[in-house]
Amino acid sequence: MIRLDGKVVAQSVRGEIKEEANRLLRDYGIRVGLAVIIVGEDPASRVYVRNKQRACEEVGFDSRVYSLSCDTTETELLNLIRSLNKDSAVHGILVQLPLPKHISEEKVTHTIRPDKDVDAFHPYNVGNILLGKPDFLPCTPAGVMEILHHYGISCEGKECVVVGRSNIVGKPQALLLLAENGTVTVCHSRTRNLSEITRRADILVSAVGRPHFITADMVKAGAVVIDVGINRMPDGKLVGDVDYEGISALASAATPVPGGVGPMTITMLLRNALLAAQNSLK
Ligand code: GUN
Repeated sequence: MIRLDGKVVAQSVRGEIKEEANRLLRDYGIRVGLAVIIVGEDPASRVYVRNKQRACEEVGFDSRVYSLSCDTTETELLNLIRSLNKDSAVHGILVQLPLPKHISEEKVTHTIRPDKDVDAFHPYNVGNILLGKPDFLPCTPAGVMEILHHYGISCEGKECVVVGRSNIVGKPQALLLLAENGTVTVCHSRTRNLSEITRRADILVSAVGRPHFITADMVKAGAVVIDVGINRMPDGKLVGDVDYEGISALASAATPVPGGVGPMTITMLLRNALLAAQNSLK
């Protein structure tokens, strides 16, 4: 089984992003600017935001982190977004999810200007993805596609099965596979005979959020298995949705956790921020 190494792919793409960011600075005096807003103290979110900030610095972007206390009001947050919408030094805006319960995620995603929406969560961008004419690609699903491209794995005409139907991963993942001519099935918690369906997959993507949910009996011989799950165990270890060892005699290729899809998600965020800066020149 080939180990699909997200770190290697991420490094290669980040190199290209860094070059292009340097060119924007040199030729146009534009430094790519990304604003990241985090509300509250969720430890996992803090780690994600720190990683995003570090990745921005590595490719020469200007990253601003707005760290707001958990009692920030919805109005305060929306007003901050509105002021960043108008700030020409900020090309991309990202509000880390989940948000505290008193703040509406929907209002937040609707308030970010679509041309600064580097998460591609705004209905305008979601609509363009559905229509197959995206500006920004959703970060995690785009990271999965980038891994497949890097390893020369085509979805053309293949049976692609996505397990999970979240707005952030499952649904947009299905659309990106479809855009590349995969025959796509989306499974979820109400799906009957799940393993019968997953066993048909040439390309199986799991975005469930349950440790070792995908076992060998659910995988067809020769399948490519992509693990989007990041599950933290009581001992602090990160494990994916897929029993990587269990499927290793069966699958032709699979992404490990950590070191698979994870490093690609932030890389695609960087690419979206770069694209937003490039588009600001038009
Ligand atoms: N929380 C978990 N995943 C994501 C993501 O892709 N974007 C944002 N903004 N928050 C998240």
